Amino acid sequence: MSPSPTGRVRAPASLVAAASLALALPLPPRAARAQSASEIGAQAARPPALPPAETMLRLASPDGRSVVTVELRDGVLHYHVARGATQVLLPSRLGFAFRGAEPLQRGLRLVDSARAERDTTFALPWGEVARVRDHHRELRVRVAEAAAPGRTFAVVFRAFDDGVAFRYELPAQPALGDFAMTDELTEFALAEDPKAWWITATRSMPDRQEQLYTSSPASMADTVHTPLTLQLQSGVQAVIHEADLVDYAGMYLGLVPGGGRTFRTSLARWKDGTAVQGRTPFVTPWRTIQLADRVEELAPSTLTLRLNPPSRVADASVYRPMKYNGVWWGMHINTETWESGPKHGATTANVKRYLDFAAAHGLGGTLVEGWNRGWEDSWVEKGAFSFTEPYPDFDLAGLARYARSKGLTLIGHHETATNVTNYERQLDSAMALYARVGVRAVKTGYVGDTTDQGHAHQSQYMVRHHRRVIETAARHGIGVDMHEPIKDTGERRTWPNMMSREGSRGMEFNAWGGEGGNPPEHETILFFTRLLAGPMDFTPGIFDLTLSRSASGARKPWEPRPRTTLAKQLALYVVIYSPLQMVADVPESYLGPDGRPHPALKFIRDVAVDWDTTRVLSGRIGDHVVVARKAKGRDEWFVGAITDEEARTVDVALDFLPRGRAYVAEVYADGPGAHWRDDPQPIAISRRAVTAATRLRIAMAPWGGQAIRIRPAAT
Ligand code: NOJ
Ligand code: CA
Repeated sequence: MSPSPTGRVRAPASLVAAASLALALPLPPRAARAQSASEIGAQAARPPALPPAETMLRLASPDGRSVVTVELRDGVLHYHVARGATQVLLPSRLGFAFRGAEPLQRGLRLVDSARAERDTTFALPWGEVARVRDHHRELRVRVAEAAAPGRTFAVVFRAFDDGVAFRYELPAQPALGDFAMTDELTEFALAEDPKAWWITATRSMPDRQEQLYTSSPASMADTVHTPLTLQLQSGVQAVIHEADLVDYAGMYLGLVPGGGRTFRTSLARWKDGTAVQGRTPFVTPWRTIQLADRVEELAPSTLTLRLNPPSRVADASVYRPMKYNGVWWGMHINTETWESGPKHGATTANVKRYLDFAAAHGLGGTLVEGWNRGWEDSWVEKGAFSFTEPYPDFDLAGLARYARSKGLTLIGHHETATNVTNYERQLDSAMALYARVGVRAVKTGYVGDTTDQGHAHQSQYMVRHHRRVIETAARHGIGVDMHEPIKDTGERRTWPNMMSREGSRGMEFNAWGGEGGNPPEHETILFFTRLLAGPMDFTPGIFDLTLSRSASGARKPWEPRPRTTLAKQLALYVVIYSPLQMVADVPESYLGPDGRPHPALKFIRDVAVDWDTTRVLSGRIGDHVVVARKAKGRDEWFVGAITDEEARTVDVALDFLPRGRAYVAEVYADGPGAHWRDDPQPIAISRRAVTAATRLRIAMAPWGGQAIRIRPAAT
């Protein structure tokens, strides 16, 4: 909650959203029970009684602040986690359940343990930072069942200055060969009841990520997607997620029934209910607990990158970060169609218009949706797409050539509607076609509940599928931008062609989404939740904010439309990191009646999409964020500031600039009278001299923001 101007406490929009969700869907009994605050207090006061530790091994990060302790208690392997003086996790159990076998959890004895320390640095071909230092301490603990069948496993723990991580290793062994895992029994027993920001993973549409965030005590959360962001009373922040998800089920987190505030992994399923099919030797993904002492330290988050194998791509320079426009928003505001017909968007002439705009305004490419056969009636149900046959009014090879002649690329589109069988059948030829004509990136899409075979979006089946797509695309030198994706667990370290993905409510929800679109706090929550996993193709840059160009004409404030000011749309280019950053509106929205570009378009033209460093200057989850990023290889900085429904002024020091040099700040601020409801368009563009000693007052209108370019004074 945050205080309102009248001093009263208002319910954040996320709780309002949770309330409406609760009205729409029956609450599970646990959540209903957790309504009583006294009961929460009672749960908090009664941690489960634990047997004493038989073995205790402690692992501290290089700076000593992140500590994981591993214990064997009554034959069960536990771990707990502390950040400085704050206990984050209480002893939490580890183990697995398999079909047709006893759980692998009890009656364990310690076999041995080993320690290591590593300190390396690697460069990223593109990213929110150019280099990542991987300095960690490691503890490998081997355990085995004391009695027959004597199955064995190891857990490898790593302690970093910004978090801890662990993964299981199942060696080849007679009593554990081929297996069907029904559950992973890893627990996260929260030491207190922190505030949590979460999206449900199991209510509403099956494992859909496109949800509004709810904030609540963790003990009242649903089964949730990760990253799960937790804010403890001491100010410590903990984010539970995973890394290196290669051949396993995606992890949700669900409260253990009757377990107070203990979460357990809940794995996405194959249709038959299995979680993971495998054969030893086998390793699981890393379970990660990112830790920070202040919310501003959560980003940029590189923990998952340090836990993925190095790049397997020989020349990553072909995956160029870029801004792009596309035949896209017109379909979402109903002025164009995906299918061929009188309003077809992907016609040769229309795509040329988009390419001309891209070339004139310094973009790198144009996305084309609706170019291929299969969009006719009920595409969502059928997913009967061809990925090699263009509609007759779309000249793929000719347009790809035209794009190249202007230094651009077409960005292809493969909407599968979760008919994965149909897509896999065509995958090689579809990628080969794009490679042949010179399409350098493809947007994929998985609209639908479960796959055509009934597997969940985050299931092992889909994890394997997405790997196949990434690796096939890499063989053809094609970058990938996944929508309705598998969650990001740092794949881009190994496969730098895995450039961006959706995986949350993006801009499209402001065209047709429920609740009148995304609430104004949405992106201030995304920054500290979804975006900690990796880049997001949010598709910012809508200039016609009342959607006056939509088929139904200008929308009323309570109807779906972007609930932001124009300056906030610009700020999103800095706040939301993506190496593929869309300039999402239709070309005419960026031009005045005289055909001249809107002055604010200059910021989009100038803003970088690849960064040397990133620093969060100020933030409060659900309220505001101010981020500074340095353009890769240039002495140029960009600052993005966004607020929620409150007007806000944030003072920030520019001490990230090199000392003693003169810079010019080009400021794009909310203009006089700017207000999302009455008039979101006013923008005030100004310049001022700044240095490292300057303090900037960033004033934002309700639902507003500010975007700043800082360049050397001499240029
Ligand atoms: C959902 C995607 O998020 C959106 O960008 C796309 O236009 C539609 N699917 C159609 O593929
Ligand atoms: Ca989507």
